[in-house]
Amino acid sequence: MIVYTSRTGNVRYIASKLTADPIEISKELMVNKPYLLITYTDGLGDIPAKVIRFLEQNAKFCKGVVVSGNSNFGHTVFGGAGEKIAATYHIPLVRKLDLRGYQADYEAIQKFYETRVKE
Ligand SMILES: Cc1cc2nc3c(=O)[nH]c(=O)nc-3n(C[C@H](O)[C@H](O)[C@H](O)COP(=O)(O)O)c2cc1C
Repeated sequence: MIVYTSRTGNVRYIASKLTADPIEISKELMVNKPYLLITYTDGLGDIPAKVIRFLEQNAKFCKGVVVSGNSNFGHTVFGGAGEKIAATYHIPLVRKLDLRGYQADYEAIQKFYETRVKE
């Protein structure tokens, strides 16, 4: 399972490149099977508020995180949401993508998904 959140469409695009049905985070979403999380970065290297709330309820089955950011923000905060989630929940940061990323990113994510997430 793939769970994502997207504000301006980049993460939605990334999720659409994977052969799995992505589910968008909503207030009510509760997940009780292994999933891969894909998020953007907010603020200055911050986790989007809705992702913080989602993980408070659903971190148990999160097997890895993929983050999109914008490298123009500078390397200390580029993709910072992914770094923070990985450190807080002790899960792998699978890939950090600049905006929509590239084909090689989608292939690496797909491989991780097949081997470490998919049931
Ligand atoms: C208000 C705001 C703050 C952002 N802060 C960061 C940041 O600190 N680090 C980063 O790498 N990207 C940052 N970004 C860039 C987004 O994470 C990036 O454009 C991402 O691809 C957006 O994904 P989405 O189109 O799915 O919403 C910021 C974007 C906005 C609008």
